[in-house]
Amino acid sequence: MTGRKTIRIRVPQVEPGMVLGNDVFSGAGTVLLTKATLLTDYTIAQLRAWQIEYVDVKDAKNEKNPAREGGRNYAREDAAFANMYAHSLDSIAELFEEMHHSDKVPVQEFLPIAEGILDQVLGVQGVLRRLHQVKTGDEYTFSHSLNVGIYAVLIGSWLNYGAEDLRMLATAGLLHDAGKVKVPAAIIKKAGPLSADEYQEIQRHPFYGYQLVANTPGMPKKIALAVLQHHEREDGTGYPLKLSSPTILSIAKIIAVADVFDAVTSNRCYQARRPPHVAASIIMEESFKSLDPVVAQSFLARIVPYLFNDDIRLNNGMTGRIIQLNRLSPTRPLVQTEQGFIDLNQMPELKIVDVV
Ligand SMILES: [Fe+2]
Ligand SMILES: [Fe+2]
Repeated sequence: MTGRKTIRIRVPQVEPGMVLGNDVFSGAGTVLLTKATLLTDYTIAQLRAWQIEYVDVKDAKNEKNPAREGGRNYAREDAAFANMYAHSLDSIAELFEEMHHSDKVPVQEFLPIAEGILDQVLGVQGVLRRLHQVKTGDEYTFSHSLNVGIYAVLIGSWLNYGAEDLRMLATAGLLHDAGKVKVPAAIIKKAGPLSADEYQEIQRHPFYGYQLVANTPGMPKKIALAVLQHHEREDGTGYPLKLSSPTILSIAKIIAVADVFDAVTSNRCYQARRPPHVAASIIMEESFKSLDPVVAQSFLARIVPYLFNDDIRLNNGMTGRIIQLNRLSPTRPLVQTEQGFIDLNQMPELKIVDVV
């Protein structure tokens, strides 16, 4: 809908800061990088490694260049964020592999990842947009761990947490699902419904994660407890200990909201990703039941404006752009289509099925 043109260029001419105008496919037809990915040193090296000759990039000359508004170099900031994300993802994959064979968290290696998140998230505008640009369809557990760390630090900063607590949030977010390395891969990757035994085993991951973290010298006890409690719920409906509000740590409550949002908006082996509006709506519905209302509302207050301006597809096949959000009902915004305005609040039979 933006009308931004694309130009085809040879990969050796590609520069960091350019944005892909179309998906990049392998010879076998697999999507390697998706449209709108911001190209960085890292992704350009990947293109070379995959022996891609040409890519379509968005033509920066064709529109007002947001990269240098107000004297700030947004393209450079975008690239720094994307680099942090790609490198962190690589490290997390290696460290999770290491934890699979050991009983401890390689704490020294996790610290720089947590610091990288703090550097790129605090006091920086547009983190949600950037995260949306760089989110990959890679191995769910790794990207999910990183995304939860980023969302948790954002929420903590909105709740005025101090530096030490934010560092703890970053680390707890990165490690919240670390216990999954101790659950058999066949269960983690199972696409179909789980048996009762398999379900029980997967519900042990907070315990396994707690053991890993608690077993690591120098790791604050709070991080181990946040990992243990991230599936506990305010109303006692969570697991593994069925704790309720007063006994759940604040950082575990923050991780819970970050976890729900990222899980709903990511592709998982048993469920396709759903639009952020749906995730926002779920958090809204749960915010006085299973999720902490202060944490959930603080997250929604910041996330809802970000959902503005999204191009979406409806279940009747029409595409359009969200032009006004209904704060009480984020999944029912006012949408402009080529045929006119549609107020989803008045049209219960219509719903948003994708962000395009
Ligand atoms: Fe989990
Ligand atoms: Fe999770």
